[in-house]
Amino acid sequence: MLSGYHVSRRRFVSTAAAAPFVIGGAPGVLAQSASPAASPAASPVSGAVSITSEPWGKLDDLPVERFHLKNAKGMEVAILTYGGIVQSLMAPDRNGTFANVVLGFAKLEDYVAKSPYFGAIIGRYANRIAKGTFTLDGNTYHLAINNDPNSLHGGNRGFDKYVWDAKPSQTADSASLMLSRTSPDDEEHFPGTLQVTVTYTLKNDNSLAIHYTATTDKDTIINLTNHSYFNLAGEGSGTVYAQQMQLMASHFTPTDATAIPTGQIAPVAGTPFDFTQPHAIGERIRDGSSEQLLFGHGYDHNWVLDRPGPDDKSLIVAAKTADPTSGRVLTTQTTEPGVQLYTGNFLDGSFAGTSNKIYRQGDAFTLETQHFPDSPNEPKFPSTTLKPGETFDSTTIYTFSTQ
Ligand code: GLA
Repeated sequence: MLSGYHVSRRRFVSTAAAAPFVIGGAPGVLAQSASPAASPAASPVSGAVSITSEPWGKLDDLPVERFHLKNAKGMEVAILTYGGIVQSLMAPDRNGTFANVVLGFAKLEDYVAKSPYFGAIIGRYANRIAKGTFTLDGNTYHLAINNDPNSLHGGNRGFDKYVWDAKPSQTADSASLMLSRTSPDDEEHFPGTLQVTVTYTLKNDNSLAIHYTATTDKDTIINLTNHSYFNLAGEGSGTVYAQQMQLMASHFTPTDATAIPTGQIAPVAGTPFDFTQPHAIGERIRDGSSEQLLFGHGYDHNWVLDRPGPDDKSLIVAAKTADPTSGRVLTTQTTEPGVQLYTGNFLDGSFAGTSNKIYRQGDAFTLETQHFPDSPNEPKFPSTTLKPGETFDSTTIYTFSTQ
């Protein structure tokens, strides 16, 4: 039984208004709680900041929990210890009506079986490494080719597919969940033992901050991101093509046909990649004269954020996205040099998500803040090398407002 586990877990739960706890199924199998995700139209009651948790099934005998971070304005984020997945994010529209603005599933088993990285922490190397091969300190490493002919998002079992340790905390103004894990030396053939923490903090200003840290005992490479698929009109509501996107980037990294950067830092001016002024996401997405859009099956590219200098790592606004209908606005800030805008090009209508609506191409956008794809093979790109004694430190903040 889970009772002993419950006792120690509840010590961390620092609110009286605990969520209903649902017991998972038999040990040894992937067990699933019967609790559905919050419905898109539900309006969480506002009040005090809280953080609660509930069992959400099991993976290889390991209990998975779902944490609910709630702020005083009623915004609520559900995070799984499996993959650090943002499973649900309830944000208000201009009339104060809440909707779940991230794609996902209502059951753990769906995440395990078929998730295209919905909401997950991606590591050790977010995005692609050409042919799964890189050289560091004269040693050549071969990663899994899981996105033929390249390696994608950390290989066969990346950080999105592990159960993380979780430590909740709260203040009057914020609810935080610190997730941590040790990635052993040679995991997915990456060198070095990596100690990683990812801390989600929901504040009363309707911001969700993600703070990543990592240290290593050998020279290694690292690129961490979160793979939330946003739809500001609510998940399952159709495409995001009418949503307005602005990217603070006058350059991007064009790719070859396998989505590996050519090494060029190209101006966006005069192309469908120019989002320096707001444009509807779908406005130019079918422009057949753009080889890059054909290569990506839509937008699936890294934009180079405009920074005052090459070494600048300050927190800057990377993107502003707005849904004219609901009035929801998402502001993305980051300390990273790049952002991958991906328009759900590979959602093919073969499965349904959290509210049992079928997800199709264009139903979401991601803003994966990151170092550039394939950086270990591109000496001109900002370095992704982490050495013993250094601390990888990266912050991205998604803030919700209305217009
Ligand atoms: C990233 C990649 C895409 C795709 C998605 C997951 O955004 O760049 O090509 O693999 O992840 O489906």
